[in-house]
Amino acid sequence: MNRLSPAPLAIILLISAFTVNASQELHRDAMSLVKQFGATLKPQLIQAMKLGGPENAIDVCAVKAPQIARELSGKSGWSIRRVSLKNRNAGAVADAWERSVLEEFESQLASGKPAKALERGELIDGEYRFMKAQVTAPLCLKCHGSNLPRPLLEKIKVHYPDDLALGYQAGEIRGAFSLSFKAE
Ligand code: HEC
Repeated sequence: MNRLSPAPLAIILLISAFTVNASQELHRDAMSLVKQFGATLKPQLIQAMKLGGPENAIDVCAVKAPQIARELSGKSGWSIRRVSLKNRNAGAVADAWERSVLEEFESQLASGKPAKALERGELIDGEYRFMKAQVTAPLCLKCHGSNLPRPLLEKIKVHYPDDLALGYQAGEIRGAFSLSFKAE
């Protein structure tokens, strides 16, 4: 009487297999975009630091980083931004999900997970969300560390009066790339 016919079960299995597959594909796309972002930004940052020190390189972070994010977003249809628990750019405040993922990254890092492996992808309400941690390297301390030279600090304060992104140490999580894609 109440026997479940195999058809609905097959459909459920098919849908979940499809979802897993789609998620894997979205995960791969997100990873590739993060790679492109880093590969475009970092050489420009290093070059600008070489040419004119951190004061010169501020513009790379302030202008180029958002520009790269916009270009990659435009090309791919993904929304791409950077977020932090202690943000410099007022637009880089983490939302509730991003905050919980950043906190999770911090506890994973503390319990020995390699920095490079700190990432998370999740399908939420038809939207695929992905985050990858950005860990503080020695180079980053020039602008995100402690005891910055006064002229540099002043330049930062002019652009970012509410800057919270100072006082970091190498190895700490500076923030993360945060991507999302409307999967439906
Ligand atoms: C030359 C100075 C400078 C250096 C070096 C630098 N940053 Fe930044 N960083 C900035 C500025 C300026 C911003 C604000 C950019 C913006 O307006 O989007 C920023 C923003 C960020 C953000 C976005 C979140 C936020 O707080 O606004 C992250 C993440 C970040 N930096 C990570 C790093 C990492 C990781 C490194 C080292 C690989 C690094 N930065 C090196 C100046 C610098």
